[in-house]
Amino acid sequence: MMDTRFESIDRCTSFKELLHDLELLLKEEQLFYGHGTENPKDESMAIIMHLSKSNDVLNKAELKNALDDQIREKVKEVLYQRIIESKPLPYITNEAYFCGKQFYVDERVLIPRSPIAELINNHFEPWVKSTSLNRVLEIGTGSGCIALSIAEAFPDVEVVATDISTDAIDVALRNAKAHGLENRVEIIESDLFENVSGVFDLIITNPPYVPDKIMLDLPKEYLHEPHMALAAGAKGLDFISRILHDAPPFLSHNGIVIIEAGVASGNMEQRFDMPFIWIDFEIGGEGVAMIEASNLRIE
Ligand SMILES: C[S@@+](CC[C@H](N)C(=O)[O-])C[C@H]1O[C@@H](n2cnc3c(N)ncnc32)[C@H](O)[C@@H]1O
Repeated sequence: MMDTRFESIDRCTSFKELLHDLELLLKEEQLFYGHGTENPKDESMAIIMHLSKSNDVLNKAELKNALDDQIREKVKEVLYQRIIESKPLPYITNEAYFCGKQFYVDERVLIPRSPIAELINNHFEPWVKSTSLNRVLEIGTGSGCIALSIAEAFPDVEVVATDISTDAIDVALRNAKAHGLENRVEIIESDLFENVSGVFDLIITNPPYVPDKIMLDLPKEYLHEPHMALAAGAKGLDFISRILHDAPPFLSHNGIVIIEAGVASGNMEQRFDMPFIWIDFEIGGEGVAMIEASNLRIE
């Protein structure tokens, strides 16, 4: 099963040498990054952190630690899945990071990477007054990363999260338990708003938004993610349209919608004549708009 390309790993005696060799090996391959790490260097460190069970990048002393055969074998297994099977690293390690917290992930859910993390870290300021938040609804929660991070950031806010996928609900519940938030976040299986009741001060969502044509050309890494988490019809608007249309009765008087449209942002602007405010991000990312309840008008 092992590939001869990975033989150099057998000659590594320390984590430092391993880090160096991993980076060289990854650089030689045509891999797509963007599922938690952005380049071969960061991904090599992420692999080493996972194998050494460290929560932080290894320091100089730790990098000098000797390797054993077990670690070398595990590294080769990771490389096999990453390079030969084009699997994104978080699906190999079952670990992803969002808002500084670790979440369990597997191929039943999208790998967390939304720029919405920055908004949560900033308590949605200046877009939302934290004091005006009582109830928050997330549509399409996947691993639960957004809803659970909001619950942790706002201890007094009631959070409801939905997903149509039973598999995703299982993963979100597992993460809720792991973070001790199972009593704070209500996780509901629902087709968008179908099983939701009450009104919310904030409806937040990063629904599927990848247009059909782009789906056909996605790097292989994306094929490991659930199709239903990405694909959204010809213009990428299948879910965005339904959410904007169905949201009004679920919004409080001063409620707002924060919606990530990513690659479908242009199509969303064109399709809906509404005063979306497109949010600027400091850390990176784009394609997230906010709109107030009073401005949501769809015939
Ligand atoms: C782009 S993913 C976002 C997942 C998660 N919020 C995150 O940031 O990692 C979209 C999610 O919407 C869910 N979804 C797709 N269609 C849905 C529907 N009709 N109702 C509710 N959720 C849906 C998918 O199962 C997927 O988990």
